[in-house]
Amino acid sequence: MSVSILVTDKKSDLVSAQVNVVPVDGKRKIKAGLPKATADFLHASMVERGFKGEWGSGLLLLAKSRGSQYWSLVGLGDESDQAKRSEGMRRGLAQVIGDAKRYGLDTLSVDLREQEGAAGLAAAAAETARLVGYGFVEYSKSLRQKQAKQSVRKVIVLVKADVKKEAAGRVRETVNIMTGVDLARSLVNSPAEEMSPQKLAETAQQIAGNSKSKEVSVEIWDEKQAEKAGLSAFLAVGRGSEKPPRFIHLTYRPKEGAQKKVVLVGKGITFDSGGLSLKPAQYMEGMKMDMAGAAVVLGLFSVIEKLAPKVEVHGVIAACENMPSGKAYRPGDVLNTKNGKTIEVANTDAEGRITLADALAFAGDLKPDVIIDWATLAGACMVALGETVAGLFSNTDELADKILAAAGDTGEGMARLPMPEEYRMLLESSVADLRNISSSDYGGAITAAMFLREFVGDVAWAHVDIAGPAFFTHGRLPYYGVGATGYGVRTLARYLKRI
Ligand code: BES
Ligand code: MN
Ligand code: ZN
Repeated sequence: MSVSILVTDKKSDLVSAQVNVVPVDGKRKIKAGLPKATADFLHASMVERGFKGEWGSGLLLLAKSRGSQYWSLVGLGDESDQAKRSEGMRRGLAQVIGDAKRYGLDTLSVDLREQEGAAGLAAAAAETARLVGYGFVEYSKSLRQKQAKQSVRKVIVLVKADVKKEAAGRVRETVNIMTGVDLARSLVNSPAEEMSPQKLAETAQQIAGNSKSKEVSVEIWDEKQAEKAGLSAFLAVGRGSEKPPRFIHLTYRPKEGAQKKVVLVGKGITFDSGGLSLKPAQYMEGMKMDMAGAAVVLGLFSVIEKLAPKVEVHGVIAACENMPSGKAYRPGDVLNTKNGKTIEVANTDAEGRITLADALAFAGDLKPDVIIDWATLAGACMVALGETVAGLFSNTDELADKILAAAGDTGEGMARLPMPEEYRMLLESSVADLRNISSSDYGGAITAAMFLREFVGDVAWAHVDIAGPAFFTHGRLPYYGVGATGYGVRTLARYLKRI
């Protein structure tokens, strides 16, 4: 059951809405072309409830007016920045939807007639309805029933006639992208027993199989093929697991041809126990999410044909499970990588960078213009930036700025972190070209990124550390519950569309 979204310029379409959502600027200013009596009623309610229209706030009023309809308010604050206003819409509307669901109200309208940037706000409203409407209920009948009772069925977005076409287009695109976000979330939420390297490979095969225009294709390698291709560092990480590793290479080639080539690499550790450098129970619990980078790549590829960016895009995932066993790789081992550099394994829990070393070297061999990797790489990134903000690293300012701009537009929190040259020596080894952990206790997200940098050569490259925002163990933003967020798919879609 999924929410339907209608963009209209006819006020009469609102009759079926149970809740009318009205955006409010800071200072309680309503801009929605409402009759004076309604505006007065809303204003009085705001004063009574102490609602100031602050950015990202939402309020459902339980007094009815205009027949049988309820009213609610979403605060956009005094922001003039459109991206910021859109995020205010997402946060405020998510709260309103949450309240409405609790009262069994499942049809909403959002009045954007008098709003600047109405098309963008319409897309943000659609996004919110889909983000809030997502639930991972496959494993529980009672959760399924709860979800069915508490879903929003319909969102009607009211805009002026002259922006209807643009708004409808943006909403259509958003709905496509959200299908990819939902897939990413479900891949990450699925237990690691289920979501094995083989299952990720099958998902990639399905995506390619669904490609109507044959623009998407896939190649999957097992151990033998990966060995032949020189991906032995990746294979070492997966060796402790009973579940065989898979190397996944997706390709999107637009029919009309493309000027640019982008390779997306996703960390695909289906479960990170830490390996022989075993994690304490408390840190191991959530580690089915260690393939969230792979989920970003698969989520994006699942909608790429509809998105139709004018770029050649490759998706590369070195999928394996990091487990301890008699066959597992160990601290002290020295590994060969695809680009010839050797790695001293000091800690088997710093496994992501080892698998990514080979995946990035493979990506470089495709001779792309850009490589972007997505990885739940370092707990230290959460120490640095908290849970909602991803860390961005890049060897090219122009690429970093483009990714930051795309993230800003979608409301996905992201901040760039530096790679100071004086930290490079922290990765020096006495037996190999690199050690897989830093010799300092500090700056772990940075040294992890600098480790990856050793494998990208001189291609423009960015690394997004999504250890924080990929998965929430507590509700951290109003439009996500607990669990996977699909972080990255929306930003990536935006970035690729812009090229
Ligand atoms: N997958 C983890 C990083 C992680 C931690 C992601 C918490 C999401 C939430 C990664 O493989 C890891 O274990 N990193 C170690 C690195 C250390 C051994 C240098 C870490 O963060 O402790
Ligand atoms: Mn680890
Ligand atoms: Zn990991």
